[in-house]
Amino acid sequence: MKFAQQTKTKELSISTEPTRIAVLISGSGSNLQALIDATVDGFIPASIELVISNKPGVKGLERAAAAGISTGVICHQDYSSRESFDETLVQYLSDCRPDLIILAGFMRILTPVFITAFHGRLLNIHPSLLPKYPGLHTHRRALEAGDSEAGATVHFVTDELDGGPPIVQARVPIMAEDDEQSLAQRVLQVEHKIYPLAARWFCEGRLRLGKEGAALDDAKLPAQGIDYQA
Ligand code: GAR
Repeated sequence: MKFAQQTKTKELSISTEPTRIAVLISGSGSNLQALIDATVDGFIPASIELVISNKPGVKGLERAAAAGISTGVICHQDYSSRESFDETLVQYLSDCRPDLIILAGFMRILTPVFITAFHGRLLNIHPSLLPKYPGLHTHRRALEAGDSEAGATVHFVTDELDGGPPIVQARVPIMAEDDEQSLAQRVLQVEHKIYPLAARWFCEGRLRLGKEGAALDDAKLPAQGIDYQA
């Protein structure tokens, strides 16, 4: 009697699709531009698939279009509640199947409807040395307080406003002659360095949000994130 020996071949499915990023903006989009440039030159191993603004006509939308990225506008004013706006945003984004969602000057407070849907793959940049000055007018507050330095923080987004685990933080000096505008410009320059860096870590699979907070290469990050040195 002959037995036919069956060999099971395991099918390996190796995805060649690059990491998919969606970016949410509300304005000028200089951080978006830094992210676009970093994906184009290969610093971030990913592609930006979609840019959504909650405001029509903003410069960030032009920047996205110029880079050949799909754009969408979802006006928060068309919605009766934050939750219904967020539900639409989740639906719109889900169609794009993003691995990472980056808030780049997105000036809307998000509800758990949105944050839960994308837990662990949602980054924000905030123009202060968190936990100092969550919320608005960070540069004015730093100047009024007589601080000697300001900066920016990239962090994972959780339900706490500007309170999710920090990933990386960059400092800039405050000069005697600074006003809000000059300080904002100096801070933006470092934002454009640390945001692509954090996005790169995420897309390389090195950055994670766990129960203990943010971790890079499986090592828990310091409470204020990595101190970026230019
Ligand atoms: C940036 O300074 C960013 O940190 C801030 O808005 C600006 C957007 O500039 N974000 C927040 O304040 C969020 N709380 P951009 O549109 O030129 O990137």
